Amino acid sequence: MGKSYQIDEICNLRQGSDLARLFDVDRSRRRVLKAGLLGGMLAVLPACATRGGGSAGLIGFSGVPVSTADALTLPPGYRAQVLYAWGDAIGAVAGQPAFKWDASNSAEEQALQAGMHHDAIEYFPLPLLEKAQDKANARDSTHALLAVNHEYTDDGMLHPDGMKTWSAGKVRKSQAATGVSVIEVRREGAKWEVVRPSPHARRVTAQTPIRLAGPAAGHESMKTAADPSGTRVLGTINNCAGGRTPWGTYLTCEENFNGYFANGGNIPADQRRYGLSARGAGYRWHEHDTRFDAQTHPNEPNRFGWVVEIDPYDAQSTPVKRTALGRLKHEGAMVTQAADGRVVVYMGDDERFEYIYKFVSARAYDPNNRAANLNLLDEGVLHVAFFNESGSGTWIALKHGENGLTAANGFSSQAEILVRTRQAADFVGATKMDRPEWVAVHPLTRDVYVTLTNNDRRGAQGQPGVDAANPRAGNIFGHIVKWTEQGGDPAAGRFAWSLFALAGDPSHPDPLRHGNIRGDAFGSPDGLWIDPRGVLWILTDVSTSVLNAGDYARLGNNQMLAADPVTGEIRRFLTGPAGCEITGCTMAPDGRTMFVNIQHPGEPASERTDPAQVRGVSNWPDFRPDGRPRSATLAIRRDDGGVIGA
Ligand code: FEO
Ligand code: CA
Ligand code: CA
Repeated sequence: MGKSYQIDEICNLRQGSDLARLFDVDRSRRRVLKAGLLGGMLAVLPACATRGGGSAGLIGFSGVPVSTADALTLPPGYRAQVLYAWGDAIGAVAGQPAFKWDASNSAEEQALQAGMHHDAIEYFPLPLLEKAQDKANARDSTHALLAVNHEYTDDGMLHPDGMKTWSAGKVRKSQAATGVSVIEVRREGAKWEVVRPSPHARRVTAQTPIRLAGPAAGHESMKTAADPSGTRVLGTINNCAGGRTPWGTYLTCEENFNGYFANGGNIPADQRRYGLSARGAGYRWHEHDTRFDAQTHPNEPNRFGWVVEIDPYDAQSTPVKRTALGRLKHEGAMVTQAADGRVVVYMGDDERFEYIYKFVSARAYDPNNRAANLNLLDEGVLHVAFFNESGSGTWIALKHGENGLTAANGFSSQAEILVRTRQAADFVGATKMDRPEWVAVHPLTRDVYVTLTNNDRRGAQGQPGVDAANPRAGNIFGHIVKWTEQGGDPAAGRFAWSLFALAGDPSHPDPLRHGNIRGDAFGSPDGLWIDPRGVLWILTDVSTSVLNAGDYARLGNNQMLAADPVTGEIRRFLTGPAGCEITGCTMAPDGRTMFVNIQHPGEPASERTDPAQVRGVSNWPDFRPDGRPRSATLAIRRDDGGVIGA
């Protein structure tokens, strides 16, 4: 998401890098390498402004130009079907309320419809096959469950008169439009449809009962008046990026949870560290749902900021917040496996000067015993990344009793380290990054990529300066970092890293903002996913407050690009309608359908719609004179039924 409150916010006030306390860092060598690295990269790689040429390699489509139109554009030979838009019935047996074009659906109806602001998406083939051998043989690309995040709401668009009047009913509808959808989908020929009714269809909202599990469950700081046990919480919020486990569960990540809380009193340091404020992001839930009043209920915010595991194959199952994965503004949870079968989860904390994390499970994944895997994410070690200037890196364990994380230093237990993950990462001196978003792992090389979407405050007065992994001051365009774990093992304690691409505009008047993209220009990379052929897909989230203006005047609407990890070539695949973000991407196993989410088409520069102007920016995808723009899941296919991107 590109909300301005988030952009203005910096919660990490730790000065400088105190890593010297734990690691030996040669500062003079750091400066020399930094100059050489940046200068070298900028000199070597050519850049081109608007479109890439043809290629017989990994990427086979013709790139599309930038666009400011209120339309979706794709390469010749590709078409997109709008499969699942805000307000579409999920197809639960209990009811199928139709979307009302004036947004007058009730909260109860909204809870049976697609939420707003689609984000991450994952594909779960039907039927569920539990044994490894069965799964290896299954290639079901025509029938599946899709899990879709609904990150947040634009309450100017969600209600007929927006936020002009504010009520408990509007809060309930806003809470019902947040969270996750699970829908059943099927393909007949080239056409996908949502299966209605479906016993699998469900919505998880900000009011769904969720279990807390792992080391922080039941900790003093998790207990509230409504839940004295500290083990059960209502709802999940700000569901941004996500992930998928090998045992077929969905991971949804709570990102800017702080924005829903308000604390009108003296805000404790631990709440400040996570960005809680007097008004939050203006959602105004606390006015009618007092648990979001963080002064009255100071522990309620501790129950958000987690990764939530949902079993999409069991609509009656209770989702679980996995506290072992830490509490942060979780952007995503990319799951891979270590050489010995342990599960590794890579995660970003999306805020300026925050960190990149890695969880390594204690036990190995058992491909023949799904039940044994369902609590794998409750035991293991969380790590945070330190990027040396020389191109090596270290994973620092956030484990009680290690690396100074002791009671004497303010961390009395593993539970406390997890509830205060950011403070623990501060203490061990992790590397402050330029807003870590999605992580992707190459299925063949096991190389890992992360988007650093932007950080306009890098190098500003009183803020951290550049370092080798975050090499540009005033980094408005963002970059992508790549690393290789030692020995190719995701559980390794060390890694080697490099800069994969510096985003930018080659025609920008400031040469330092040209970037070094080999191919089509873009900025603010956010979503990142590698398909089974090894194409790295990049999805952008330029904030609507700067889209098509100023530094971003020549880069068009938000877009999606394909990169060849070997050659570094990047080619534009898709441009979105006006005011949208492109986020969330997966494919059917045959690679012949790609699912992509279009988030908040029509969002104005102010990032909250004026209810009198709902079609002022966009009317995609329905273009009804009485309608309103809607976030939507696309099913993208080639006219010839071929493999996407090839
Ligand atoms: Fe929800 Fe960091 O994007
Ligand atoms: Ca974003
Ligand atoms: Ca994002």
